[in-house]
Amino acid sequence: MVTFKTKEALQNYLHTHRQGNQKIALVPTMGALHDGHISLIKEAQQLADIVVCSIFVNPTQFNDPKDLEKYPRPIESDVKLLSEAGCDILFMPSVEEMYPANEEPWHIDLGRLDSLWEGEKRPGHFQGVTQIVYKLFNLVEPDIACFGQKDFQQVMVIQRLVDLKKLSVHIHICPTIRSKDGLALSSRNMRLSEAGKQKALAIFRALSYIKMHIADESIAKLKQEALNILEDEGEITVEYLAICTARTLEETNHIDAGETYVALAVAWIEGVRLIDNMILT
Ligand code: PAF
Repeated sequence: MVTFKTKEALQNYLHTHRQGNQKIALVPTMGALHDGHISLIKEAQQLADIVVCSIFVNPTQFNDPKDLEKYPRPIESDVKLLSEAGCDILFMPSVEEMYPANEEPWHIDLGRLDSLWEGEKRPGHFQGVTQIVYKLFNLVEPDIACFGQKDFQQVMVIQRLVDLKKLSVHIHICPTIRSKDGLALSSRNMRLSEAGKQKALAIFRALSYIKMHIADESIAKLKQEALNILEDEGEITVEYLAICTARTLEETNHIDAGETYVALAVAWIEGVRLIDNMILT
């Protein structure tokens, strides 16, 4: 694996090493890598000839400067995991490299995707995400970019960025990696006790209930039953649970044939905010 810290060095390398019709896949990350990220690298390797992973803790997507400061940066183990996974190129720029002093202000019209669900909880977050992802797309010019389904709203936002800017990159959604009993992999799970992890399985059960019964129960009933599953577990605070049209993330009260729907859930257990989702149709 070769590592670059500057845009110029990365671009020079790509211009000299990308041959003919070789495909490039980009996997953007903020580091602190776990098996979920490595599964993105593995999937990217199936789809492209050259895999570029970026590690950049992007300041513009944090609302709270303390969160930015506290964000884990285990760079040595990240590098080891990526090279063991056979990643070809690691791009690891500094903040100054990605945000020079003369930076133009960024705004893109994401419509309601900007203010629904995660957007409501984290104002400006998706502006920051699109700002950095757009920079990375322009720099790497990937054919494919891989993102985890776990952050479903983020994927919809990035697809909107691609549509608005008429980019040719294909956004590939990689399935959420789960423990054998269903807990979605997240670095936050480390902060849960064993009992907390057991409790968290109720989120998977609630989402699975919705998926299983989508064809035979009303949306109101599905939602109530899923909330009951979470409530019966005890000591889980649901922040939101919604059944939405996948493209817009607007809540729906009916299911149309041919449309894709998704159930979104955020719940707190032992002071840890857990996010999950399931594609329903
Ligand atoms: O999902 C993430 O880790 C980040 O939001 C991303 C896409 C790398 C942009 O900073």
